[in-house]
Amino acid sequence: MGGYVSADQPSIIDDPSIKSGFYGAPTVCVVFTPVSFLYGVPDAFCCAENMVLAASELGLASCIIARGEDTFDTLLGLELMKKWGIPEGWIARCFVTLGYCEGGYPSPKERRAGRIKIIEQEEIL
Ligand SMILES: Cc1cc2nc3c(=O)[nH]c(=O)nc-3n(C[C@H](O)[C@H](O)[C@H](O)COP(=O)(O)O)c2cc1C
Repeated sequence: MGGYVSADQPSIIDDPSIKSGFYGAPTVCVVFTPVSFLYGVPDAFCCAENMVLAASELGLASCIIARGEDTFDTLLGLELMKKWGIPEGWIARCFVTLGYCEGGYPSPKERRAGRIKIIEQEEIL
């Protein structure tokens, strides 16, 4: 069971009537990294974050989608990687969907209390 990202922005894990993890977006970007690089996962998601920031600047809606590895670990996935010329030893990490928003954006969520703890230097030593 998942938890809602927000009440007015249900994700596929919360709402069984949503049939595509890409939410019908007209454009889906895939972020690949070398499989052997230790920081491939954080690098890919930093890249995705930069992509969604750039998309917002351009007036596009976007969503970062996880589980690139599982999505491409299929016959079709391997076939597509070959067709697209993805080098051997590279792996899909995540996706960024892009499109124009239909309707309104979800309302901003309230910040949760107690999620940031500031440790003063004298508490460490
Ligand atoms: C690392 C990461 C992975 C995410 N993976 C998914 C995903 O698989 N499916 C999805 O619908 N949204 C995914 N999202 C988007 C989040 O669900 C959410 O919409 C986005 O982070 C905005 O959150 P906020 O409303 O708290 O600002 C992901 C976001 C991040 C940062």
